[in-house]
Amino acid sequence: MNTEVNLCGVKLKNPIIAASGTFGFGREYNSFYDVGLLGGISSKGLTLLPREGNDGVRIAETKSGILNCVGLQNPGVEAFIKNEIPFMRASGTAVIANAAGSTLSDYERICERLSDADVDMIELNISCPNVKAGGMSFGVLPESVEEVTKAARKYCKKPLIIKLTPNVSNIADNARAAEAGGADAVSLINTLTGMAVDLYKRKPVLGNVTGGLSGPCVKPIALRMVRQVYKAVNIPIIGLGGITTARDVLEFMLCGATAVQVGTANISDPYACLRILNDLTKEMQKCKIDDINELVGQLQD
Ligand SMILES: Cc1cc2nc3c(=O)[nH]c(=O)nc-3n(C[C@H](O)[C@H](O)[C@H](O)COP(=O)(O)O)c2cc1C
Repeated sequence: MNTEVNLCGVKLKNPIIAASGTFGFGREYNSFYDVGLLGGISSKGLTLLPREGNDGVRIAETKSGILNCVGLQNPGVEAFIKNEIPFMRASGTAVIANAAGSTLSDYERICERLSDADVDMIELNISCPNVKAGGMSFGVLPESVEEVTKAARKYCKKPLIIKLTPNVSNIADNARAAEAGGADAVSLINTLTGMAVDLYKRKPVLGNVTGGLSGPCVKPIALRMVRQVYKAVNIPIIGLGGITTARDVLEFMLCGATAVQVGTANISDPYACLRILNDLTKEMQKCKIDDINELVGQLQD
């Protein structure tokens, strides 16, 4: 049975990629299983300089997911290149550098730096506040999605994935804007903005007041958005949001994803990606397919 997929010219052993921010750089998970078995790893979101992240409570559990406001804690792009890429590369999995910034120039500079490093692809997290535009996220308006994609594209020599935020009025417009700006692929969804409240303290639970919602509760929204985007663009889609089983993976592929990412599931079960991978061919048999690529986009709607 074939589980290999081709993502923007990069061969992945299988469509399972560990999602940014939930897998570090793979080291800790490698003590549970060989992370080289995965199709890829998307690194923790990198910035030009190291960041400590937000103060106070950063994670709140919900009934079927979590809220987080980690705030892009990371060692910075130089430490990533020096200390993390060698391990990730040696593991044999595809290396995706997830990057973020707060100005257009940050995105240009980080893409330029990562393009000279030994990574397979660059995934841009554009759900970050644009400091020059009053703090509204780059990912919200189609015009700013196109602008940040174009800026990054000028300096990016690797396949460029634009990661879309679901906190928008029409995600298909934003996907089209990424495609128009020169993206090679889009990934969706990032987290949905939410909050948790401590009734008796009469205070928000999270230090940052709001946080990003992820996990099984977001899966129906993510599936709907992947399908909408599949119908809107001609570039490949990486689908994510609430995936916990092999069946979920195939559902995302049926809606149009060429590959998928698994995020929050890693936090509740460190073996999640391995378990999903081990179940994948069994689920393919149930779907009566020999090649996983046969399923992509084939939903009859
Ligand atoms: C604790 C945590 C940290 C995250 N950090 C990042 C990040 O640095 N960059 C990014 O693009 N997405 C980040 N995400 C979003 C995930 O990669 C993913 O898009 C989202 O959680 C939905 O997938 P899931 O439901 O499988 O977790 C983070 C998510 C969580 C839960």
